[in-house]
Amino acid sequence: MMPADFLWGTATSAYQIEGATHEDGRGPSIWDSFAAIPGKIADGSTGEPADDHYHRARDDVALMREVGLHAYRFSVAWPRVQPEGRGRPNAAGLDFYDRLVELLLESGIRPFVTLYHWDLPQALQDRGGWANRETIDRFADYAEIVSHRLGDRVHDWITHNEPWVVAWLGHATGVHAPGLADPALYPRVAHNLLLAHGVATPVVRGNVRGGAAGVGIVLNLSPVEPASARDEDERTALIHDGVLNRWYLDALFKGVYPADILEHHPIEVETSAMGTIATPIDFLGVNYYSRAVVRMGPGGRPAQTRPAGEYTAMGWEVYPQGLYELLTRLTRDYHPPALYVTENGAAFADAPGPDGAVHDPRRVAYLEAHVEQAARAVAAGVPLRGYFVWSLLDNWEWAEGYTKRFGLVYVDYTTQARTIKDSGRWYSRFIAGERE
Ligand code: FCB
Repeated sequence: MMPADFLWGTATSAYQIEGATHEDGRGPSIWDSFAAIPGKIADGSTGEPADDHYHRARDDVALMREVGLHAYRFSVAWPRVQPEGRGRPNAAGLDFYDRLVELLLESGIRPFVTLYHWDLPQALQDRGGWANRETIDRFADYAEIVSHRLGDRVHDWITHNEPWVVAWLGHATGVHAPGLADPALYPRVAHNLLLAHGVATPVVRGNVRGGAAGVGIVLNLSPVEPASARDEDERTALIHDGVLNRWYLDALFKGVYPADILEHHPIEVETSAMGTIATPIDFLGVNYYSRAVVRMGPGGRPAQTRPAGEYTAMGWEVYPQGLYELLTRLTRDYHPPALYVTENGAAFADAPGPDGAVHDPRRVAYLEAHVEQAARAVAAGVPLRGYFVWSLLDNWEWAEGYTKRFGLVYVDYTTQARTIKDSGRWYSRFIAGERE
């Protein structure tokens, strides 16, 4: 049992569900451009029409209500609000999120808004994107516009989703938009993202009215283990942990980058910038999917291994106790004021059965096991305040296109019909039971 005010929710992001990429004045984002390049997306698809959520928000909120969610985490598409990434807001874009917030509140569902879930306006990428410091100022302006408009009703805000993914997959390996494969860009982009977070945090906090503000950031974190007791594997695991976890955590909570990682990713930074990054946050959001077990690979770089066990359709190991390990470590080493699991979930090859229902016992088992580890963490003193399943709906999974289904709700992409899966029904009963 969790504390009585614990929040059970689900999460989504704009580009993965909205569609309507050319409507109501929305400008192009880096994901529109990236997905249009042949070969970048597994099934050659784009975020059009995704779940057509832009036109079905009312029905989707009704589904959330049917499941009995307490909270819903969604992101705002920057190019809907500022089609060119700067200047006067596009009224139609803001109105959409205003209506969504109204629908949620009418249903008693608490909105958690992510400002940046990867869909940078293409116009800003044309000027260097996150490698250019100017984007930090643009982000602060955008944060001001959105939080001013919604801050009277939305009290819970997330600046960035997973800066490591943006910096590493987007700029060093190039498998995500904007598709740059220049490892030298990595530390600068990661730094600018964190700085943008620090600059935007007081802006957003200042706009929250009529309730206590909760402003935080979401990181993708994984416990990292060496594949063997060999010295080289131990060292490699330490480096991988440093790049993935400590780089962001030390900066946010201690105002420094870890010295051992600076050797690998050198960057000159001003002391004042580190102070800005370490601006106190109200919570840390944790996206947890799996652990990493690494050995020293070619060129001395970390290589992921595949321990025996169960794997999801993403090829990610099912490792529930990693969530407990992570949450307790965060509490011990960084003392966050509050934590949320802002994403946790699994992709499996779901399909409706002859009865029309979608039976997904492996997802139910995955969620049960992770929720149990979250409860163990709470019992051990971790200040965990809520848990969000990724995702409400099957949706467009970035470079994997429509081939990976994470939803509690099945989406038929030809008709856009929604079917609550067994896991959605399970979550519904589980939430109700927790409140008894
Ligand atoms: C996370 C992303 C989210 C989704 C899940 C599966 O890295 O934040 O948008 O794609 O993975």
